[in-house]
Amino acid sequence: MAIIFNEKNKTFHLQGQNVSYIMEIYPTGHLLHNFWGGKIEKSDGFELSTFNLDAAYTAMQVGEEELSLELLPVEYPAHGNADLRTPAFDLEYSDGGRISDFRYVRHTITSGKAAIKGLPSLYTNEGQTVDTLEIVLKDEVKKLEMTLFYSIFEAEDIVTRRVELKNLGTEKVIIKELSSACVELPHHEFDMIQMSGSWGRERHVQRNSIVPGGQYIDSSRGHSGHEHSPFLALAATDATDSYGEVYGMSLVYSGNFKAGINVDMRYNTRMQIGINPFRFSWNLEPNETFSAPEAVLVYSAEGTGGMSKKYRDIYQSNLIKPDYKYQERPILINSWEAFYFDLKEEELGEFAKTSSELGMELFVMDDGWFGKRDNDQTSLGDWFIHEGKFPNGLKDLSNKVKDLGMKFGIWVEPEMISPKSELFSKHPDWCIETKDRVKSLSRNQYVLDLTKPEVREYIISAMRKVFTETGTDYIKWDMNRSITEAGSSSVDANQQGEVSHRYILGLYEILEVLTNEFPNILFESCAGGGGRYDAGMLYYMPQTWTSDDTDAIERLFIQEGTLYQFPNISMGSHVSACPNHQVGRTTPISTRGVVAMQGNLGYELNVLELTDAEKEEVKEQTALYKKIRGTVQLGDFTHLKVNDSTNARAWQHLSKDKNQVVASYVQILARANVAPKKIKLVDLEGTARYQLDGTDSIYYGDELMNFGLTTVRIEKDFESQQWVFNKLAD
Ligand code: GLA
Repeated sequence: MAIIFNEKNKTFHLQGQNVSYIMEIYPTGHLLHNFWGGKIEKSDGFELSTFNLDAAYTAMQVGEEELSLELLPVEYPAHGNADLRTPAFDLEYSDGGRISDFRYVRHTITSGKAAIKGLPSLYTNEGQTVDTLEIVLKDEVKKLEMTLFYSIFEAEDIVTRRVELKNLGTEKVIIKELSSACVELPHHEFDMIQMSGSWGRERHVQRNSIVPGGQYIDSSRGHSGHEHSPFLALAATDATDSYGEVYGMSLVYSGNFKAGINVDMRYNTRMQIGINPFRFSWNLEPNETFSAPEAVLVYSAEGTGGMSKKYRDIYQSNLIKPDYKYQERPILINSWEAFYFDLKEEELGEFAKTSSELGMELFVMDDGWFGKRDNDQTSLGDWFIHEGKFPNGLKDLSNKVKDLGMKFGIWVEPEMISPKSELFSKHPDWCIETKDRVKSLSRNQYVLDLTKPEVREYIISAMRKVFTETGTDYIKWDMNRSITEAGSSSVDANQQGEVSHRYILGLYEILEVLTNEFPNILFESCAGGGGRYDAGMLYYMPQTWTSDDTDAIERLFIQEGTLYQFPNISMGSHVSACPNHQVGRTTPISTRGVVAMQGNLGYELNVLELTDAEKEEVKEQTALYKKIRGTVQLGDFTHLKVNDSTNARAWQHLSKDKNQVVASYVQILARANVAPKKIKLVDLEGTARYQLDGTDSIYYGDELMNFGLTTVRIEKDFESQQWVFNKLAD
């Protein structure tokens, strides 16, 4: 068992290979947080209750003079009792009261980990040691039971947390906030790391020092959003990419979230993540239970790189659907930037043929194939084939594609409805809306109300029909606007605060049905690029369109932040045309290839317009990618140090068997008269020999790791270099 309950000290100790997480039941029954950090091998007799209780101006719990909750590291704190700091939860009772007092009642320790009904979460694999601790706390006055769930993945050093609240009383309780995880760290010498940006500029790494008070990121857009990722890390101020303590929290959820810290007046740092309490409320009637989504906690003593590797590994091995997690992904060609809405059947046939000759394996017809969809002003909801563009249906085209030996895929945007659509004329009341308020349009579309069972049924049956009739092998599931006027006629006035969460529960229900019913379809999620790139969606859909910005240089930073949490195999990255459609930049096609090969390589340009030289280059890229695909998609990824960090990026992919290593270097701007850079590889076998692919050059692992690779002289902006080494047998 990786969870030990010490009867004498009343401590719970979750023990991974390199991590410990310890809590204590205080004599009053309050649950305290003792420790989260490097592994403590033996905790027997370890004196953990060394909290300093001498401060003044804090309230004492009456009758328990020794106890000031404000001075204790409460594991899942309330606000307004003897603790006046930022709480992990907030409940409102029918008498208007907001004070809660939850104390230990019982606990269970079991092996394994159960799924959460209606919500995505990490699963377990055969042979893995995963144990679960459930601690039940109770508010005796209001008869509420709160269960704190902790699972530890022993070898992987992962702790997951979640919370359930059950109303055993006779009156309704309103949940205003129920964080998924909250941890108190005993100092504030941390930097807060978050992934922030916007459409076309998602998940840029931001690292800032923290100060007393609160700092947080959130989404109230109805989806996790382009603006911030549902993720937060605290790094010791001296931590680097490969050294130092880092604490991460990532939420397995796709809706409104909040993640943040609060440094209290004694310089403790509370760190927490969960559903965004802003505009959220949930009516918990007697006998009902509410589940908060799961948070995945990673501690690493090996810097941000150590933390990221743990996230990438666990999300690949225990979140992505079992059939897909280790299945190599096809090189795709997407029609969007090539044709936008201007799809012509014959031209698409030629496009597919040339793509296949260039080595591409999956043809994806993006937006524009259905209803009367000639632009973005119409037809979302009308999921039947555009007769003007495809008079004989999609079968002719898909047969042509399949005859080429390629797979066939299409784009859909099922959660949306265009006001100009047959669906809207039949069901104008199917939209998310707030009574008496104008519904804001965004990209000329409204959002379907997924809280309504009839809407969910419509989406499921419309998609079932599309998937079956087109015989598609792949679906790009898009969501191209945020949710405004979040409200629904499906619930009462006092339940409007539930709508955003109910929307996500409705979405998960749809995805659960469709992804299980069509296990052979490879799903890629998308929300105007990476507006819903989160662990919740990744549970259902094993890959994600990272960003609508396909510029190689912009992508360096977008992908860097993405890879802090998500595995390379989940990250869609395409080579597109230049000048780039988003930023107008022209980069060499070689560099576009190198950057796209950081994840799932695809192409999104008109291959019919490529020059012969470009075609040759693309052929070489796809051939190379097929050689290194296993290493990129199933291996270990590391950002490498470059001594020019504002102007260059380097990284490596190492196969799990360590037989192949691929190193890549991109320099942003050319510079006159500077020495070549050294790129030091990592994790090779020091005395093993590695041959540079396609040459006679052989290097020892030590040489590659300590002396490093030397970059060639870069003469132009946006140039890159790539090396593939194969280990020689002894
Ligand atoms: C979104 C996606 C794009 C493309 C368009 C189609 O913006 O992110 O990749 O599919 O929709 O309308």
